[in-house]
Amino acid sequence: MNVLRTKSVEESLAETAEPEHRLRKDLTALDLTVFGVGVVIGAGIFTLTGRVARDYAGPGVVISFLIAAFCCALAALCYAEFASTVPVAGSAYTFSYATLGELVAWIIGWDLLLECLLGASVVAQGWSTYFVTFLDQLGVTWPAGLGPDGTFNLAAFVLVALLGALVCYGIKESMRVNLVLVAVKLFIVLFVIVAGIGFIDGGNYAPFVPEAAGTAGAQGGWLHTPLVQSLFGIEPQVYGVLGIVSAASVVFFAYIGFDVVATTAEEARRPQRDLPIGILGSLAICTVLYVAVALVITGMVRYDQIDPDAALAKAFITHGKDGYATLISAGAVAGLTTVVMTLMIGAVRVVFAMARDGLLPEGLAKVNGRTGTPLVISAGITLLVAVVASLTPIGKLEEMVNIGTLAAFALVSLAVPVLRRTRPDLERGFRVPFSPVLPVVASLVCVYLMLNLSGETWLRFGIWMLIGAVVYAVYGYRHSRVGTVARVGGYDPV
Ligand code: ALA
Repeated sequence: MNVLRTKSVEESLAETAEPEHRLRKDLTALDLTVFGVGVVIGAGIFTLTGRVARDYAGPGVVISFLIAAFCCALAALCYAEFASTVPVAGSAYTFSYATLGELVAWIIGWDLLLECLLGASVVAQGWSTYFVTFLDQLGVTWPAGLGPDGTFNLAAFVLVALLGALVCYGIKESMRVNLVLVAVKLFIVLFVIVAGIGFIDGGNYAPFVPEAAGTAGAQGGWLHTPLVQSLFGIEPQVYGVLGIVSAASVVFFAYIGFDVVATTAEEARRPQRDLPIGILGSLAICTVLYVAVALVITGMVRYDQIDPDAALAKAFITHGKDGYATLISAGAVAGLTTVVMTLMIGAVRVVFAMARDGLLPEGLAKVNGRTGTPLVISAGITLLVAVVASLTPIGKLEEMVNIGTLAAFALVSLAVPVLRRTRPDLERGFRVPFSPVLPVVASLVCVYLMLNLSGETWLRFGIWMLIGAVVYAVYGYRHSRVGTVARVGGYDPV
């Protein structure tokens, strides 16, 4: 078995020019930054901030956001170098295929799929909660059986179906809708910050980091305890320093998405310049906004009284501003829409890249001549996300999305110094400073955050990876294009 076979950067680039597999190159640096902000700001800030402040970190959640941002910034630098060197759809998956070999590439592709598929489904459910709340605030009642708590979540299903149609129709069109919705979302986040400042009570910040509290004896045992605490026999606890780090590994969800910018690398007009701007720019904008929102919310309401489901809206209701709350719910509905759409686009691009390489059925990767998008994959992903979002109780699986993404980050970071060594000749539009130290630190920080996720999350992640291993062994390994070429000899695209 040769699972370490790599695919050369030239091969990857050559395939992007094949007429059948060619995506349209339409995106500018602004498109990419907007795309990034569109996918990053979502359920994380609208719902997780409150829950995490209440349950893990108190006002110290602000520090958690900074820790998660630090981790993302390190990984983002590595992504920026890769995306500017190998501008091919599939992001981390493609980078690792060129450096660490097919098996690692498969693992990363599988992780990214988890991130995008599950992420889109989780956020679609979050969207339906805000949608029903918003209708309620307008005096319209959505049938309970067809909402987030019902047996069939019709709201989430319709959302995903509509977005899927848009994604099939064309990337430029999707971006246009994205632009409008991102503007609305940014306005709402800024509104929360500006309108909320006046209601801050300095007393709510004391203590900024609540004293550590033990949770031993809580239901679930090691399953519901951060793995690192179980591994090292630390008494399970929340708040305090450990609580802040656990919170960081959860609010990491709020940053997920900037890496998805790299999945559209092939569609950028000037990838070497525009991708680093898109990736680092969107991350910087989101960090500033998140820290500000976290400061405002924990300043407006004492951390132990924050509403865990709709913290932002409820904080204003507490201060008698119901109208503001309605506006925020409306903004969340618009805001979460773009996250679902962008994660779906990301999933399509990852499957596209894997199918083009023969690791998944190659026939899937046909680009439709009229729309310029891979129609079969787009329709398949839409169906999958729609079914998962409407029929399964996955609303609280953010941690699962985090672990998949962190695993991909950890591997991609390590791949940077490897590609520098194996291919020093490649033109790099952007270079990570202090390599290999910075990439190694990036990888370690990602692993440390992974260890702060619960035992249950690790268990689920293990099962997902096991399924991936079976699919690779049964299908991917045998049908891999790189493998076929190695057996038959000579490189012959398609
Ligand atoms: N970062 C995205 C969100 O918070 C996934 O919804």
